[in-house]
Amino acid sequence: MKIVAIIGSPHGMAGNTGRLLEEVLTGVEQGGGEIEVISIPEMRVEPCKSCDICHNTGSCPTDDNFEMIKCKLLACDGFILASPNYIHSVTAQMKALFDRSVGIIHLVELEGKYGAVVETSGSGDDEAVVRYMERFINTVGAQSAGGIGSGMAGFRTFPEEATLFAKANELGRELCLSVQEKRHFPEQDAYRNAFKARMQSLVEYRKNEWVYESKYWETRSQ
Ligand SMILES: Cc1cc2nc3c(=O)[nH]c(=O)nc-3n(C[C@H](O)[C@H](O)[C@H](O)COP(=O)(O)O)c2cc1C
Repeated sequence: MKIVAIIGSPHGMAGNTGRLLEEVLTGVEQGGGEIEVISIPEMRVEPCKSCDICHNTGSCPTDDNFEMIKCKLLACDGFILASPNYIHSVTAQMKALFDRSVGIIHLVELEGKYGAVVETSGSGDDEAVVRYMERFINTVGAQSAGGIGSGMAGFRTFPEEATLFAKANELGRELCLSVQEKRHFPEQDAYRNAFKARMQSLVEYRKNEWVYESKYWETRSQ
């Protein structure tokens, strides 16, 4: 079972978010997952230029690491998104990855996979950013096994750390169990099915320009 962890903190695994992610990954190991960590700031993921070429051809013409990350997402069983709270949202690095995923989103291409979310903040204002990343997981078609967020107490330390880390370990194990048991989360299923219908009709409407995506939906078994 392959689990890809994507971290968008400029500090990579060396910061607060990396520390909390480590604990989730301990749970993934306990659950039998094989882990690959992708640190976006150590790569190049440019912002989306809104050229629409990915919709027509199936790949992004920007020459950077996005297509490689996309391949890893398409090949994994589960993935983790980890970002600090930057002004009530994710970092620009993580947002660039989200925006570049617009082709994956039109095809709801990660259906059948599972995700989980890790977030840290200065203030403890975590919920909205965790929910935002979980919504991204649903938008690409995957189901979220859960999310964890925490304010920091200092450099790589957190309030009530033992309890937090136990929850983080559990989240990693839950992600693996979700993959193994092919769990269903009914509310997320409903969201995905409605979103999928919307994306299919959007692509149908633009079928002359978005040739790759239109062919994809014609041949995809539901
Ligand atoms: C540019 C920037 C914006 C931030 N915005 C917020 C914010 O809106 N709310 C908050 O609680 N913390 C905010 N923080 C604090 C970080 O979320 C927090 O320190 C986090 O744990 C950093 O994680 P890292 O060590 O993995 O980078 C911000 C930090 C930076 C550098």
